[in-house]
Amino acid sequence: MTEQRVEPRTGIFRRKPVQTEESDGGLERSIGLWQLTAIGLGAIIGAGIFALAGPVAKDTAGPAVTVSFLIAGVASACAALSYAEFGGLIPVAGSAYTYGYAVLGEAVGWFIGWDLLLEYTAIVAVVAIGVSQYITFLADAIGLDLPAWMLGAPGTGDGHRIDLFAVLLCLGVAWLLNRGIKTSAKVETWLVGVKLLIVLAVIVVGVFYIDTDNLTPYFPHGLSGAATGAATVFFAVFGYDAMSTAAEESKEAERNLPKAIIYSLAIAMVLYLLAATVLTGMVDYQDLSGTAAFSEAFQSVGLGGFSKVVAVGAIVGIVTVLFSFTLGASRVWYAISRDGLLPAWFAKTNEHHSPSRPVWIVGIVSAGIAGFVSIGDTAELTNIGILLAFVVVSASVIVLRYRSPELPRTFRTPLMPFTPLLGIAFSLWLVTKLQPETWVRFAVWFVIGVVIYAVYGYRHSKLGHGTVVQTKDT
Ligand code: ALA
Repeated sequence: MTEQRVEPRTGIFRRKPVQTEESDGGLERSIGLWQLTAIGLGAIIGAGIFALAGPVAKDTAGPAVTVSFLIAGVASACAALSYAEFGGLIPVAGSAYTYGYAVLGEAVGWFIGWDLLLEYTAIVAVVAIGVSQYITFLADAIGLDLPAWMLGAPGTGDGHRIDLFAVLLCLGVAWLLNRGIKTSAKVETWLVGVKLLIVLAVIVVGVFYIDTDNLTPYFPHGLSGAATGAATVFFAVFGYDAMSTAAEESKEAERNLPKAIIYSLAIAMVLYLLAATVLTGMVDYQDLSGTAAFSEAFQSVGLGGFSKVVAVGAIVGIVTVLFSFTLGASRVWYAISRDGLLPAWFAKTNEHHSPSRPVWIVGIVSAGIAGFVSIGDTAELTNIGILLAFVVVSASVIVLRYRSPELPRTFRTPLMPFTPLLGIAFSLWLVTKLQPETWVRFAVWFVIGVVIYAVYGYRHSKLGHGTVVQTKDT
């Protein structure tokens, strides 16, 4: 980490210089395009398809859940193109926090950073609940009679008091990360391979069990049901934003990062559309299970053995998302503290070079959410924040293109400014589809953020004191 002297800047819209050079962070640049794409897929494909497609089809969209995935995917693709432009331009510091700080100023950067802290933590919770559902399915399938109190958050089923597996997963991942064990790119590539194979197997096997009667009516709740569903399954279509943490270790990051963002989202989308069609084609949407839907669907058509394989694959595959986002949340926290907007206490790393304090906070808070809140409510809370991050990144890409057209861009968002504007419009529209309770929860978090920035961040900002931190790992 190096500090560079700059003129002290004042005002809440002071901007960090755009750092376009790759730093020589001392890390080996060993990750190629396909490994980078695998890291993207590692963070994208997870609970969104395995745990949310079922309940959204059952309660909100019917078979048109596939259309929900399509709407969410288009919205995400518009934003992904903006992320790709930034990924190519700022290959050392890829989070929305940094883009917002450099382009729209400190207050916006802070807002997005603060927003991401909540979102990434909530994502960890959603994903843990998703894994927990498949563990419970598996336990049940092999005849273990687990007590109801430990199987879900209150209100999610008879006798449910806490989702104990989800709590243990959140804490376990935090513990592992603090021991310096992050899934290395090689292990990650293997795990992603398992995950892709499982999704492919679901599609290839499931296609033989599609009964077209199940697909009619296709829009039981109209197009508006599909649109409302899109606001929830939007959870499935991000994750490439967390990939930028690997920018420093990738070969030709400025060229490969934009490509990997686009490839990973495109591959995920194709798989989602096919898997959602298979799921709703196999089982009447009203009979779909609200939990572990894919395994339950195969069990219901008499493929008990295969349903267990799907459960194991889902567990192994989704765990990669847990690692990506616990790491992502702690890194954003670390980056904000290093810039002085939160106390330096959070940025201290342990003997394994892990920012252990944020990691534990993320682990404990996500465990608290995962144990006691339903997966749907938690996913909504996540989506509002990511959608707003997408708005900021899309707006930033437009502003920077016109303000500094000369910067060395390796990837340019096509059809400027139409594509980012469409991304902004789609994202805001999806925000309106979320429940009002979600807006209220988010507003409370936002107000807390404003108070912290006013009382602490503005005065302690390194930029305000004339230094900028240039690093490899935001
Ligand atoms: N897109 C990720 C998932 O579906 C967060 O789990």
